Amino acid sequence: MNAPASREILVTHALPYANGPLHFGHLLGYIQTDVWVRAQRMAGHRVHFVAADDVHGTPIMLAAEKAGVTPEAFIGAIYDGHVRDFAAFGIQHDCYYTTHSPENRELAEQVYKRLRDGGHIAARSIRQLFDPQRQMFLPDRYVKGICPKCGAPDQYGDNCEVCGAAYAPTDLKEPRSVLSGATPELRDSEHYFFKVGDFAQLLRDWLGGKLSGGEPVMHASVAAKLREWLESDGGVRDWDISRDAPYFGFPIPDAPGKFFYVWLDAPIGYLASFKHYCESADGAKAGLGPKTFDQFMAASARAPVATTERATEMHHFLGKDIVNFHGLFWPAMLDGAGLRVPDALHVNGYLTVNGEKMSKSRGTFVMARTYLDAGLDPDWLRYYFATMLTAAPVDIDLDLKAFEERVNSHLVGKWVNIASRCAGFVHKHFDGRLAANLPARERSLFDAAAQKLSACADLYRQGDYAGVVRLLVEVADEANAYVATKAPWQLAKDEGKRDELHAVCSFALNQFRLLTIWLAPIVPGIAARAADFLRETVTRFDLAATPLLGTCIGEFSALTTRIDPKRVEAMIEASKESLKPADEAANPPTAKPATARPAPAAASAAADTSAVIGIDDFAKLDLRIGKVLACDLVEGSDKLLRFELDAGALGKRQIFSGIRAAYGEPERLVGRNVVFIANLAPRKMRFGVSEGMILSAGTGGDDLFLLDADAGAVPGATVK
Ligand code: MSP
Ligand code: ZN
Repeated sequence: MNAPASREILVTHALPYANGPLHFGHLLGYIQTDVWVRAQRMAGHRVHFVAADDVHGTPIMLAAEKAGVTPEAFIGAIYDGHVRDFAAFGIQHDCYYTTHSPENRELAEQVYKRLRDGGHIAARSIRQLFDPQRQMFLPDRYVKGICPKCGAPDQYGDNCEVCGAAYAPTDLKEPRSVLSGATPELRDSEHYFFKVGDFAQLLRDWLGGKLSGGEPVMHASVAAKLREWLESDGGVRDWDISRDAPYFGFPIPDAPGKFFYVWLDAPIGYLASFKHYCESADGAKAGLGPKTFDQFMAASARAPVATTERATEMHHFLGKDIVNFHGLFWPAMLDGAGLRVPDALHVNGYLTVNGEKMSKSRGTFVMARTYLDAGLDPDWLRYYFATMLTAAPVDIDLDLKAFEERVNSHLVGKWVNIASRCAGFVHKHFDGRLAANLPARERSLFDAAAQKLSACADLYRQGDYAGVVRLLVEVADEANAYVATKAPWQLAKDEGKRDELHAVCSFALNQFRLLTIWLAPIVPGIAARAADFLRETVTRFDLAATPLLGTCIGEFSALTTRIDPKRVEAMIEASKESLKPADEAANPPTAKPATARPAPAAASAAADTSAVIGIDDFAKLDLRIGKVLACDLVEGSDKLLRFELDAGALGKRQIFSGIRAAYGEPERLVGRNVVFIANLAPRKMRFGVSEGMILSAGTGGDDLFLLDADAGAVPGATVK
């Protein structure tokens, strides 16, 4: 491949919806992207890595409504969680933004107007189901009814989960709105359509294109799928890009009551993030500026084949479920708006866990946060995914046993082991200094390994991380075999063999270093510790060309450990939806005995007039005043808030309380006083330990009111 020496590449990954925390499925593609970005940078290319939360659409609007907060507040809390999780997994964007931004609105309007002025937008009336109670049109997934094919009850408006039939929601028998239960009515509404077919020839050419380095624009199987859609009888159909109010999104210019469908402004969000970055202080530091964006996006900026001059590239990473948006609609939109089309699509398959679809009841629908909370190292997951990833969009299985075994065997047994077996001798006998030269044989072994591993640069570029790992394992095995044969622990016993000992250890540590350099994009955290130990900064692949000689190394300390299977079990347990404590705590008994809450028959006697107790019973409760120091949403739970209380003499307390529906903006609670039970046995929940219970009045759900104390009550004060 004769790729230009240094490329400038804009990289994005599919934008996660702002309707929940990141999970393992997201992480597969996001880790794949981050590894690629890091590898391209280490290869000397200039990369801009941007993404955003995808925040528009009906589901998010309804979720916010349910939480009793504005969509803006709702997406704000989700955003914070996403940013934290990305950081924890080492996924380092140059800019992580939101699609609900002024830049995105402006760009969406601009793209739309250019398409409209170019004659590529058609308006026509369509007939849709309308919920008369909620006064809104219903997306397919919000209508349920009897399958018109097989008669199965309770099927969604787009397809039947029993017989697999696909149909229109208007075909359902006895349809009802999922939102209100009302029987939907048919109503007409004018919609706007993007005439994708106008761009069929552009798409054909684009699908067959090549990058300046000779790589295809996308994997052949993806291109084949897209061609199939493109050439289906009648060609690609017009694409409905409008939605009726109420909708959380951007209004369509000159069309009152109409909004852009979320999938119109979502990919434009890639550009908005990049624009925002270009215009930011961070962007300026990276040598970008307000003009960069327009120059980059100009149609002519696309990498001309086989030229090294001023070539820039735009690469998108995405999952296989959304290739139609990225491979048909998106390039057509861009071209229609006079902007460059993407240079490459990198498509990942779906993640399964233990051979099956991720499942909440099996505990295999794992949130990023749950993995971290179980004390597992993010680099372990990055490594495991890397061992499976290639350019092909095939499904990837996270086999939890294989995960443990591979991480333990490769990272600890093969890689770290080389350093741990040699570092001590270098400190003990040579003041921590590597030999100034390697004997001829060792030097040629080093050169051979460096040469072999240099193939990793292309493998990374092609997305073949599994191929990278195979080479690394081969070289690690050779290095370990070398150490085993030379047995430095034997050499060390012989005063007369000091030089040989020094050469053996210095050579082995150089093999370890080679592996570290090539592993760095995959396990950046562990590699940084390894580089610290080598007293070196690993930033470029070309460091691998020459050995490290005559320099001092640091003390060796475990760079990573074996995976404790108990932690994996804990992660699965914590991911099981049916986990009792969390659910119970999510609906804590309220301060007032349940009067309004419907109680099961047997308990109903106690419900109206709770059993009489003596003062001693009451005295058992240690009720206290707590001042709210922090209060946040709990990722993975739509019911809980996490409180941190100042409990005066009792110190700080963490308490989970199931009042999120009533207090959707938890940050507002900071600073106020609450009443809590201080002597309730601590309870381990899947999100952490809850040390007490906060009292509130009401029937539950959004009908809950925290108890307050008049001014003057201090944190920790007893409530009697
Ligand atoms: N918001 C859209 C993307 C807009 S891009 C302009 C979306 N969001 S998503 O949250 O549903 O998915 C985000 C990414 O995660 C997509 O690339 C999707 O394919 C990927 N995955 C979500 N679940 C997945 C698995 N179980 N396995 C692998 N990838 C999966 O789609
Ligand atoms: Zn059916």
